[in-house]
Amino acid sequence: MKINNRLDSIEEYHFKTIETIKQKLINEGKEIFDFGIGEPDIKTNEEIVQEIVRGFKNQGFNRYPPYEGSEELKKSVIEYYKKTYNISLEKDEVLILIGSKEGISNSFPAFCDVGDISIVPALGYPVYTIASKLWGVKTYKMPLQKEKEYLPQYDLIPEAIVKKAKYMILNYPNNPTGAIATPEFYKETVEFSKKNNIVVCNDNAYNEIVNKLEYNISLLMYGKENVIEFGSFSKTFSMTGFRLAYVVGDRDAIKRILKIKSNVDSGQFIPIQLSGIKALSVLDEVKKSLITYKERRESLENIMLAKKIEFFKGKGSFYMWCKVPENYSTDEFCKELLYKSGIVVTPGYVFGYQGYGYFRVALTKEKDVIEKAFLRI
Ligand SMILES: Cc1ncc(COP(=O)(O)O)c(C=O)c1O
Repeated sequence: MKINNRLDSIEEYHFKTIETIKQKLINEGKEIFDFGIGEPDIKTNEEIVQEIVRGFKNQGFNRYPPYEGSEELKKSVIEYYKKTYNISLEKDEVLILIGSKEGISNSFPAFCDVGDISIVPALGYPVYTIASKLWGVKTYKMPLQKEKEYLPQYDLIPEAIVKKAKYMILNYPNNPTGAIATPEFYKETVEFSKKNNIVVCNDNAYNEIVNKLEYNISLLMYGKENVIEFGSFSKTFSMTGFRLAYVVGDRDAIKRILKIKSNVDSGQFIPIQLSGIKALSVLDEVKKSLITYKERRESLENIMLAKKIEFFKGKGSFYMWCKVPENYSTDEFCKELLYKSGIVVTPGYVFGYQGYGYFRVALTKEKDVIEKAFLRI
């Protein structure tokens, strides 16, 4: 077989590999507590589910959806942005996606040719680097330091990279650290984008998994030209399997992503788009899950303090970023957690080279399960 060498330089997706190991241990009768993948365990609101069922009764439900997404869902996203961030968007500044993973992947060829440079966090959602590689785009990995609250420092990026880079992706509230951005940092980001003519993007998948009274900012509040933002229904509404998300911002940037999408996929199933409209309308109800995540975090923080495992006190997302204890390598510790205590966590290096010496816990199990599992270690 004559093959694509680029594909061969990519490992199997970590969570796919872990699923196989986990299943094997379960089949052997072992009790497994999975805090690996960021998949909310909280039940999807019933009104959202019923909306899909209702959607089947509409004429034309079975048809190809509009490439840019349903008008009604786009309208709901526009209203959501207005209400949440006081940002006004037009319809051509919104594009509906089949999950933000899809949109993020398609954003690289939207702005970069093969061989071009994109700037991505050195510690981040693995899809940024994997998608870049798949599309033949080189990445410059910006370090994120705990001392800087996991915000990158633009003045440390070499001038030659800044000159050549066409696209940059950020992610706040952050996976895997739980860090949040600041208005000053977003202002600086938009200035950096303007000065260097780089399209910048914030992957805002966890924008509701945060105390909104303390933190309620969007990158678009600081400028729209050359700026885009991804939003997802997956985490906020426990809709990971529905595959529904959106990207908003600069209309020319949106048009470029749409050009790719319309040539490679045909949009999300219409009843699922209807469920997205319902989801945004029941947001206040769904947000009650924030109390649950907060309780889980506090409970795990207490256990980690007692076990003398260091962690970052993140204010966003439902992850806890923890330090591997001394005298262990990352793999040794993660394997010991799995084989001795039945606990699945994600080794930090899955998020990039800066993750060696760390592991991530997804707070996606009930508080008593978290306690039962982590008190074992
Ligand atoms: C930072 C980040 N962005 C995007 C995604 C993907 O979300 P979606 O389900 O919308 O594809 C994830 C999923 O874990 C994520 O952590």
